Amino acid sequence: MILCVNPNAAIDKTVVANEFRLNMIQRPEQVLAFPGGKGCNVARALKTLGERPVVGGWVGGFAGQFIETGLQVEGIGTAFIHTDFESRTCLSILDPINNTLTELYEKGDAVPIEKVTEFETWFRSHVTDYEAVTFSGSLPPGVPLNFYRDMIEIAHGAKVPVLLDSGGEALRQGVTAKPLLVKPNETELTDLAGKAPQDRSGLMQAASELSRRFETLVVISIGAEGAVAANRDQVWHVRPPQVTIKSAVGSGDSTLAGITFGLTHSFAFEDAVKYGVAAGTANALTVGAGHFSVSDVESVLAQVTVEQLQGG
Ligand SMILES: Nc1ncnc2c1ncn2[C@@H]1O[C@H](COP(=O)(O)OP(=O)(O)OP(=O)(O)O)[C@@H](O)[C@H]1O
Ligand SMILES: [Mg+2]
Repeated sequence: MILCVNPNAAIDKTVVANEFRLNMIQRPEQVLAFPGGKGCNVARALKTLGERPVVGGWVGGFAGQFIETGLQVEGIGTAFIHTDFESRTCLSILDPINNTLTELYEKGDAVPIEKVTEFETWFRSHVTDYEAVTFSGSLPPGVPLNFYRDMIEIAHGAKVPVLLDSGGEALRQGVTAKPLLVKPNETELTDLAGKAPQDRSGLMQAASELSRRFETLVVISIGAEGAVAANRDQVWHVRPPQVTIKSAVGSGDSTLAGITFGLTHSFAFEDAVKYGVAAGTANALTVGAGHFSVSDVESVLAQVTVEQLQGG
């Protein structure tokens, strides 16, 4: 079992509105709603890859019930702490005629500190039920920025590996607790390293430096170019084939799922990253965050290349 912590849960609602206009009543062509948040996407991807994921974090109200039940219907386990307030809804308005996407992301209510403590108590006593833990996304209001760092320390104490995919201060603090792996994209990396890498050699250097400094595996995902992966001594560029994509939303989460699958099934690090890149690219071939087919993963995987840039 893999625990996918999703602190900032939401209903992900997409309405398809042809020729969307402001100040008008409109009747959408289609409405889609799914349990959302990066941890939910990771869990969905892990389920497709044949794993048994469980999503944790905080949910509340009717929206919380929708998220929890929706995941269970998908065959994904849940272990949420319940709050008294409604979970948020993130609304995306897609206009296929004018090719626009308008996104309204609620900030959400603050998680009360006693609910943060409740999660910590639960995590401390249940972490050993899991082979690995993923922490994904931003922290909701009310959750201290040292949350990931503290949870990683607890997981360390229990000898359970952690994979961290976040940004800003939550990532900056989290990485100091030495998770097994961090997966920033280029923007998150620039923020963490304090400067933007200028080219592939800059990315390679940044990945390698972070890996040594924080004693962690580093995978920098770089969209269509795949990923640059580093351990203390080696750096690889893992490249997907060129494909025509439908939607890359949730590709980073699918990458993290693929890597987690690989590392919990004793793959060599570079092979786990290869599997992650294949899952990320397969996700981009299908509409829906964390939605892809195993046959797409397999056909992409056969075309992923691994180039060792440093070490041997
Ligand atoms: N245009 C694309 N073509 C092929 N593969 C892609 C494309 N965009 C993303 N991918 C695949 O998905 C992986 C992760 O993508 P990306 O670097 O965009 O993650 P991210 O920014 O963390 O995304 P997320 O929105 O899920 O957080 C890449 O390593 C690659 O395998
Ligand atoms: Mg990401």
